Formats: sequence, C-alpha cells, structure tokens
Amino acid sequence: MSRKLRLGVNIDHVATVRNARGSGYPDPVRAALLAAQAGADGITAHLREDRRHITDDDIARLAAELTIPLNLEMAATDEMLAIALRHRPHAVCIVPEKREERTTEGGLDAAGQHNHLAPMVSALRDAGCRVSLFIEPDERQLDAALRLGAPVVELHTGRYCELAEDAREAELRRIADAAALAVKAGLEPHAGHGLTFDNVVPIAAIPQVAELNIGHFLIGEAIFEGLAPVVERMRALMDSAR
Ligand code: PXP
Repeated sequence: MSRKLRLGVNIDHVATVRNARGSGYPDPVRAALLAAQAGADGITAHLREDRRHITDDDIARLAAELTIPLNLEMAATDEMLAIALRHRPHAVCIVPEKREERTTEGGLDAAGQHNHLAPMVSALRDAGCRVSLFIEPDERQLDAALRLGAPVVELHTGRYCELAEDAREAELRRIADAAALAVKAGLEPHAGHGLTFDNVVPIAAIPQVAELNIGHFLIGEAIFEGLAPVVERMRALMDSAR
C-alpha cells in the first residue's frame, strides 16, 4: 500500500455554465466548498487569459474562503504572475495556453522555454507557492523541470485518456516511467487531464503519483448524480487502486 493519493477537484466548468448565461449561478466557490466536504484534498482553478470560465473575482473568493489548498493553474505571463503573487495560493501549476484551444491540449515546453520560465518559477517559489509544471511524460521535460527548480510536475494524461482501452498500454507505461523517473530525481509527480470513472484506476495505481487533478468529467457527471456523490465515488476509485 502506497501513500494516499490526493484528489484535486477542478471547478472551472461550474463557471463555464454560469458564464454561458452571464448569471450569478452556479457559483464555483460553492462547488469548491461542497467538493471539500465530500473529500477533495484540494481545489484547482484555471484562470485563463480570456477569462472564459474562472474570473479574477472567483480566484479572490477561493483564496479567501477555502480551508483546503488552492492550486491556481495559469499561463506563464506577467499578468498571471502578478495575480498569483497577489493571492499566494498554496500551489501554482504553469500550463501552456493557446487562445483558440478548447482545453489545455499539450504539455508545457519547459525545455524550450527555460529562460522565460526560470524567473517566474523563482518568484513563485519565493512567494511560498508550490510550483508545478504541466508537462508531457517525457524525460527531456522532466530534466527541464528539475533545472528550473520546480518541485512538482503534473503529467499530462490527455493522450492516455483519448486512446481506446485496448490501445492504452504504451502510453500508460510512458506515464508510469515518467512518474518513477520524477521521484528518482526528487520531483513530486501529479497527473491529470481527461480522467473519468472509467480510466482513472490505472493512473491512480501508479505508486509514485501523489495527486490527481480532475474537473470536466466530475462537473458533468454531477448533473446526474450530484457533486458530493461524484467526488466520493472518484475518491473511492482512487483509494481502491492503492
Ligand atoms: N490538470 C491541468 C494542468 C489542467 O490544465 C486541467 C484542465 O484544466 C486538468 C488537470 C483537469 O482536466 P479535466 O478537466 O479534463 O479533468
């Protein structure tokens, strides 16, 4: 039995539904508090440059009201850095961001962007934030994360999740190898993107992975079952894998 695997619940898409009508509901902060009660270990929110879901006010309220850790996902821009330094969330996950994409499509090129990322990682670390880089599970990106001084890497599970169940083996191995390599190098591996009840167990079973961040599926499924039962069921599936 390995360490308990933490669940970070991403509440972005509660804000997507709210913003579709420009109403005040549903409130992502209310969802975050409910997820915490249901067993989430942390809350993740991505403040995108175009504010298509989470807003600056949501981040301020999450920072003020949450009693569990907040993980702020953000692009590596000066605007986002200033916001992160203002709120000093427990964790900051730096993600690549393209305006035209529907979601975060690939990992961060930590290797290619070393000079741009290095001062950001240092500033966030100096502010007491646990910095994570959202990367593809490959050795070059792990080396880059290490050189940048980020203590955490979040391994992109998007490709694994898109594959048919009988074609996932090689990608699963790539993620497991990257997680093992990360720990060997002194990094804490997290994982996320695209995880559902049907595909989470093999990822949760990778013993080195310390945290999963899951959003879109949980919020969608909450329409049918309610947010608390959905978080509880995901938690139970993750626990069953350990
Ligand atoms: N981790 C990171 C770094 C992400 O960018 C996202 C999507 O915002 C997630 C996890 C959650 O992905 P999903 O919403 O597909 O569960």
